[in-house]
Amino acid sequence: MKTELTLQDRSYTLYRYPKLSNEQLQAWDAGDEYLINHVEQLGLASDSRILILNDSFGALSCWFSSQHQVTTLTDSFISHKGIENNLALNQCRDIKLLTSTDGWPQHIDLVLMQIPRNNRYLTWQLNQVRRHYGEHCPLIAVNKAKEIHSSTLKLFEKYAGETTTSLAWKKHRLVFSKLNSDRLSSIDPYTTWPVQEESLTLGNLPNVYSGESLDLGARFILDHLPADLRYRDIIDLGCGNGVLSLKLKRLNPEASVTAVDESYMAIASAQHNFTINQLDQKNCQFIANNCLDGFEGQSQDLVVCNPPFHQQQAVTDHIAWQMFCDAKHVLRSEGELLVIGNRHLGYDKKLARLFGKHKVRLVASNAKFVILQATK
Ligand SMILES: C[S@@+](CC[C@H](N)C(=O)[O-])C[C@H]1O[C@@H](n2cnc3c(N)ncnc32)[C@H](O)[C@@H]1O
Repeated sequence: MKTELTLQDRSYTLYRYPKLSNEQLQAWDAGDEYLINHVEQLGLASDSRILILNDSFGALSCWFSSQHQVTTLTDSFISHKGIENNLALNQCRDIKLLTSTDGWPQHIDLVLMQIPRNNRYLTWQLNQVRRHYGEHCPLIAVNKAKEIHSSTLKLFEKYAGETTTSLAWKKHRLVFSKLNSDRLSSIDPYTTWPVQEESLTLGNLPNVYSGESLDLGARFILDHLPADLRYRDIIDLGCGNGVLSLKLKRLNPEASVTAVDESYMAIASAQHNFTINQLDQKNCQFIANNCLDGFEGQSQDLVVCNPPFHQQQAVTDHIAWQMFCDAKHVLRSEGELLVIGNRHLGYDKKLARLFGKHKVRLVASNAKFVILQATK
């Protein structure tokens, strides 16, 4: 797998985060290369103020930091770590690294964007970019050509301004917008809806997983969350909007509940949802993290997990595996991991490998999902 990004007369060594020994995927894509080549041809004044949105692992941040003042904003804790590590590895100049819930920088000359998968997040970012900057500040975005639909370009037109596109290069296309849309009013960042059967209201910031309706897996596992005084310390791993944490706290009011996700917007939404549902936050924590990196071993009684099977654009099961390994590490003896997954994902085998076959039991199943419990 290639780790050297060499363009023009410069080279950077770039790794994804976390760094895997058998990594199959590169830390940048042809879209990053297209954007870099294009911007280099513009002959920007040195020290231009560039805002980079959604840089995956720092290819853009590393490259542009050499001659410009870079601010990078992403929603991903994993991207943050990847960007920091790659900047350090390549001895790059400092940049300003922001999360998606930070305030936006004031004076920017150029915005570069890796177009996010999620249209609600794209819409919100375009609205923020337009509101904060004006026609003097071009926006150049990139994605795979097949992901740029006419509906995508309509969002750019509506929320950013006049929009054109480039020819495709290595299956990617650039999108150029002038920030001159007259739609300046702010979009409400929260999408809020009720889960009637649970008497809960869920607010979802734009990049939260399943932010427009309850995930089907979550709906199923909600009916199987346990209540017991022996659960003193509980983790909701990959908490999204926090729906499982909320119910766990209701069922186990004395327990400490820790909601963990790699999306800053998920963490902010989970905390917001404790507030709007008037749940006691005294023993609760909301932590942006990669799985349970750095968590103390033997410190928890229950870990509940509805794992992801995507990391950015890539379909992968290494995150679920990492989550299960980390859960085992943090559980006390006799502690339990409760997992929901699609039937076809084979989590039963993974858990049996890790915990032992007779320590894994089927809690419930339906046509689509299984809920499994593994005891340490
Ligand atoms: C399938 S969703 C589950 C969300 C929520 N718990 C539910 O049941 O609706 C998986 C969540 O895992 C988060 N996630 C993905 N990779 C992660 C990682 N490495 N560490 C922590 N969370 C991660 C995603 O952001 C997403 O919110």
